[in-house]
Amino acid sequence: MKLLIKGGTVVDCDGEKKADILVEDGKIVKIAAGINEDCKTLDASGKHVLPGLIDMHVHLREPGFEGKEDIQSGASAAVAGGFTQICCMPNTNPVCDNAVVVTYIKTRAAAVGKCKVHPIGAITRGEQGEALSDIGKMKEAGAVALSDDGKSVANSHIMRLAMEYANGFGLKCLCHCEDKDLVDGGVVNEGYNSTLTGLKGSIRAAEDIMIAREIALSESLNIPVHICHVSTYSGVELIRSAKSRGVKVTAESCPHYFILTDDIITGYDTNTKVNPPIREDIDRRAIIEGLKDGSIDVIVTDHAPHALKDKQVEYNLAASGISGIETSFALSYTYLVKAGVLTLPQLVRKMSARPAEILGLDGGDLREGGVADITVVDLGAKYTIDPSEFISKGKNTPFGGTEVYGKVCATVVDGDIKFGA
Ligand code: DOR
Ligand code: ZN
Ligand code: ZN
Repeated sequence: MKLLIKGGTVVDCDGEKKADILVEDGKIVKIAAGINEDCKTLDASGKHVLPGLIDMHVHLREPGFEGKEDIQSGASAAVAGGFTQICCMPNTNPVCDNAVVVTYIKTRAAAVGKCKVHPIGAITRGEQGEALSDIGKMKEAGAVALSDDGKSVANSHIMRLAMEYANGFGLKCLCHCEDKDLVDGGVVNEGYNSTLTGLKGSIRAAEDIMIAREIALSESLNIPVHICHVSTYSGVELIRSAKSRGVKVTAESCPHYFILTDDIITGYDTNTKVNPPIREDIDRRAIIEGLKDGSIDVIVTDHAPHALKDKQVEYNLAASGISGIETSFALSYTYLVKAGVLTLPQLVRKMSARPAEILGLDGGDLREGGVADITVVDLGAKYTIDPSEFISKGKNTPFGGTEVYGKVCATVVDGDIKFGA
């Protein structure tokens, strides 16, 4: 099976050039101007052709919470968002803490046949923070990383053992950083707006203490660690300073942290509730600086779909999370590239090559002989985000009504068109 992607501007980490891409049997066989081939052709004229986007932090909810999302709806939403590979967090029911659940997710994802789905195994059994999960068996079954996302491993000794054990199997720990005791039931950032609204705040230190601990463990043990969804200015600074000492720490953040500030909580819209919380402008600007100078390696969505009934309750009781997989590229392009923070190749790197490097996945670039995971976007297309149009079951976004640029036109996985025409 051949596919010709014709007339587009090809973007990779090095830059942009006008070229056609010929794909055969799931691989890129030629990248050059003026390729002519009598085969299925995807017209990319006026469009940009990117390495397939990779989201290393999503929640697919299956097994157990299929009312919020399932592998079919989540993977379909992912390709609509331009993603060819996604990594799903283990806070399902049952928790993905053993090889059976890893295998189940991979089998379901293969049957759905949209994007590649890589399970992330839990660090501890049931994400309970007590006993290590079946790390070796999960690796064997195809887990690409470990995380107790949703919470931190509270016990530092257990976290040390987890890092050592995971490292022995070539897996990284992806750390959700929040000290539960210090969060103490807080639902928004602690500051002016928590006082104004009467909503209980969560102090930056709750996040920073855990970031500092993971860095300290990584540095002492000389084992790589990855920090999830950084939201504080001080967290960015901890990571920057660790990197400058050569600590093997990498980090991610999400569109809601580099676009929004906690001013939006004053409307009590539960779609603004997320863990860690959206913080202040000083944090937002620091995350942008971190993205610019490489302190923040990766842009993820932390796609956290919830049912309407989980959000249509009072703020304190609402589920935390934002459905983000269908808005991530356009929001990032609009608020980072159009705003002059990153070049398009720099953005693409943070959404494809870097996550591939960090997790050791195949993909993240466009080269002859490489896998044909490709995303075609129309950067000139302007539209208004409308959650009712989401393919994801989760319509929970604070970005409804936001005007963005950059529409995903087609998503190609292993040489097959999985979204668009
Ligand atoms: O807001 C969040 N939602 N943060 C997390 O860490 C977990 C996620 C979820 O699973 O809903
Ligand atoms: Zn998390
Ligand atoms: Zn998450």
